[in-house]
Amino acid sequence: MNALNKKITKETATPRPPVVAVMGHIDHGKTTLLDYIRKTVVAEKEAGGITQHVSAYEVNHKTAEGVLKRITFLDTPGHEAFAGIRSRGAQVADIAVLVVSGEDGVKPQTVEAFKFITESKLPFIVAITKIDKPSASVERAKQSLTEHEIYVEGYGGEAPCVAISAVSGEGVNELLDMILLVADIENIKGNLGKPAEGVVLEATRSKEKGISATLIIKDGSLKQGMAIVSGEAVSPLRSMENFLGKNIETSGPGSAVRVVGWDNMPEAGKQFLSFPTKKEAEKYFEERVLLPRKARQVKNLSDLRVAIPAVIKADVSGTLEAIEYEIKKLATESVFIKVVKDGTGDINESDVRIGSGNGGPIVFGFNVKIDSAAKNLAERDDVKIELFDIIYKLVERAKEIIAERTPKIEVTEVRGKAKIIRLFSIVKDKQVIGGKVLEGAIGLGDEFKIMRRLAEVGVGKIRELEQQKVKTSEIAVGREFGALVDARIEIAPGDVLESFVIVKK
Ligand code: GTP
Ligand code: MG
Repeated sequence: MNALNKKITKETATPRPPVVAVMGHIDHGKTTLLDYIRKTVVAEKEAGGITQHVSAYEVNHKTAEGVLKRITFLDTPGHEAFAGIRSRGAQVADIAVLVVSGEDGVKPQTVEAFKFITESKLPFIVAITKIDKPSASVERAKQSLTEHEIYVEGYGGEAPCVAISAVSGEGVNELLDMILLVADIENIKGNLGKPAEGVVLEATRSKEKGISATLIIKDGSLKQGMAIVSGEAVSPLRSMENFLGKNIETSGPGSAVRVVGWDNMPEAGKQFLSFPTKKEAEKYFEERVLLPRKARQVKNLSDLRVAIPAVIKADVSGTLEAIEYEIKKLATESVFIKVVKDGTGDINESDVRIGSGNGGPIVFGFNVKIDSAAKNLAERDDVKIELFDIIYKLVERAKEIIAERTPKIEVTEVRGKAKIIRLFSIVKDKQVIGGKVLEGAIGLGDEFKIMRRLAEVGVGKIRELEQQKVKTSEIAVGREFGALVDARIEIAPGDVLESFVIVKK
């Protein structure tokens, strides 16, 4: 971390490749445009006919001044990222290219894409496509844009507009120049010397590779040996590929990379952060993801706590304080006694009245009497008055009341933990596993949580249990076993199964 920190302070941000989203109505030519750019602009030897791995493309374009600059393109249809991004406000793209067919003009999805562009305040360029077609008209397309309140240059607006053909290539160079010009104006910068952060574009799961995700780095760098966290998902940076599917060791801001080895499925559109070491990533995960989640759970519990209203009367204020102090200590996670009124002197009518307005209240008296009016009222309203002359007896009684009024809840109790050594077979939800009991015991019929690193990734149930090939109903600590289990999540060697039972308390 230190080395990286030093670098940050020394290094100021430098211009980075812009990330450009190509958006627009279906069939208006987004993919064809990207294909054309890719074929003509991606250096032939670099691409080498390799099939595209991700729907992000990096291209190098020579500007009019002869400078080679990189642009990262995103082909948008089917990218759930864009739906997600809208709600999360994360910005995956820096610039949008709004593709409009020169034949058809503005269509519903053009309007939708434009709405997204304005909502996320993205600078954008309009590309009028298919101008090689005889029926296309740039003029008509611009008018159609104006009618839908999308104002381009020369039509009451400022958005640059380029007419192109993805077949003849006309206008494509101008479009790329324009993108780089907008990128310059927008001052898109990144810092090489800090751990990368950005957005998850998409994630997939495969049998051979496990979970992989395409990431767009918005700032900072990724390097082998680092680790990434996105929401509930963590991945070490063991294997990283560039957009062509080639293994790479480092990657900088503005790039699209694919990272294999996640423990959970990252969400498209979610932000990711990276850390110099796996340890730091796990620390962040624990402190910033797991702990707050636990805190939320505890908070919710305290919201549900039952308050037992009580009125306390004592002969002298010193005893009153002592009683209240003791009663306060009796509070449990779910129930506590709430003193709604206290005071010295005999229990009077108003004490009972306060009590009766509070739903199931108790009036405690210590070394005091009940006056006759209070007695009558208590009888009439069925308010319970309890008198004591020994503090600990009062406290004992309060404890009993708390126990009586504690709602019965179901809690899960961990019965045992087992480490998985092998996954022998998997057919749909049925998996045959081999493992060793680390703590407690595991039993036939037990339900379990599947723990992977720090997180629970799924649940399951033990259907059959064997020890040295002999069927059994329980495996004790330290023993190895084989089991047939039901679990939706594929169990992996290294996972820990936590068997639990549900107890009513
Ligand atoms: P979706 O991904 O389905 O939203 O469509 P898209 O916007 O990616 O459109 P796509 O690139 O698939 O193009 C649709 C059709 O238009 C294809 O048959 C293309 O060959 C054709 N087309 C796209 N651009 C041009 C162009 O500039 N000129 C001509 N003549 N045809 C084009
Ligand atoms: Mg397409």
